[in-house]
Amino acid sequence: MTKSRFTPTKRALIFWTLFIGLGAVFGSYQMLTDPTGKSLQMDAMLPYFQKMPFADVLFRDYIFSGIALLLVNGLPNLLAAGLMIVGKKLGVLLGGIFGVTLMLWICIQFWLFPANPLSISYFVFGFLQAITGMMAWIFAKQEAFHVCQADYPRIGTNHNRLVVFFSRMGYTRKKALEEADRTGADIYEVKATERTEGTLGFWWCGRYGMHRWAMPIEPIGVDLSQYAHVTLCSPIWVFRLSAPMRSFCQAASGKIREADYILVHHQKEPYWCAAEEMDTLLGLTGSPAVSICCREGDYLSEESRERSQIQ
Ligand SMILES: Cc1cc2nc3c(=O)[nH]c(=O)nc-3n(C[C@H](O)[C@H](O)[C@H](O)COP(=O)(O)O)c2cc1C
Repeated sequence: MTKSRFTPTKRALIFWTLFIGLGAVFGSYQMLTDPTGKSLQMDAMLPYFQKMPFADVLFRDYIFSGIALLLVNGLPNLLAAGLMIVGKKLGVLLGGIFGVTLMLWICIQFWLFPANPLSISYFVFGFLQAITGMMAWIFAKQEAFHVCQADYPRIGTNHNRLVVFFSRMGYTRKKALEEADRTGADIYEVKATERTEGTLGFWWCGRYGMHRWAMPIEPIGVDLSQYAHVTLCSPIWVFRLSAPMRSFCQAASGKIREADYILVHHQKEPYWCAAEEMDTLLGLTGSPAVSICCREGDYLSEESRERSQIQ
């Protein structure tokens, strides 16, 4: 089982929300108990607030600022931390959003005060909090995605067809299983011998993708020539065919009589270039393809390219 990326990222987000939330509650307590701002050594900064609307009413002292700090940054961040601690996913979403709120708050400070290290630091903290929230949200969705071959009982009932797939996160695997279940085809998974899992695996795959390299794979354990039709399913890496599927196609050159392709990717636009590359490597022409946009397990759109559109 691969290690959870969500759990440590959620812990980091809890740290940020508690750090910002408790800091804001402390600051607001100081402002409300000493509205002159002296205890925070901020009394000399009051004149800068005169740029704000209704300054003569709201910013004669730090009472309004203290209440605003508590309501905008203090309580919301503590609420997000509490929700995460009791295991509510909403806390992760709110934790990320409150990072953005903090950045907006600091933007007002940038407008009000001369450049100062404290405002810059807190802007960076807000940015890090927002990024941590976004990553935790993505990891939670990725880890909640499950696909199980046992749910596709018709697979392997038609030995004229084969579905071949490579998949890191399982998104292409699901489409491959669905296709094999629809046609009754046998199924074969391409396995890379290089590291592809987790964050390090992502960057390693990116390196292969960027250079358009073929990634070493385990020897092909299936007799391709026995099949009348083969469906090849691949994710897109760096705008092209994934590196393990590139290796598979190189090894399978001349052995597949007829093919079609299923491409799975994050962006909405179709990636027909990957279908063309597979055709070239396999020595085929005009094989039909579908290009599917998938965002963390939600399949958003699908485009088909039929043989007639290619020739
Ligand atoms: C190294 C790497 C590069 C990627 N590059 C792209 C890209 O250029 N365009 C895109 O839409 N998706 C890109 N993706 C996203 C995958 O194509 C997408 O998440 C796909 O659904 C993954 O399928 P899988 O779970 O079967 O591996 C990339 C993914 C990786 C790992």
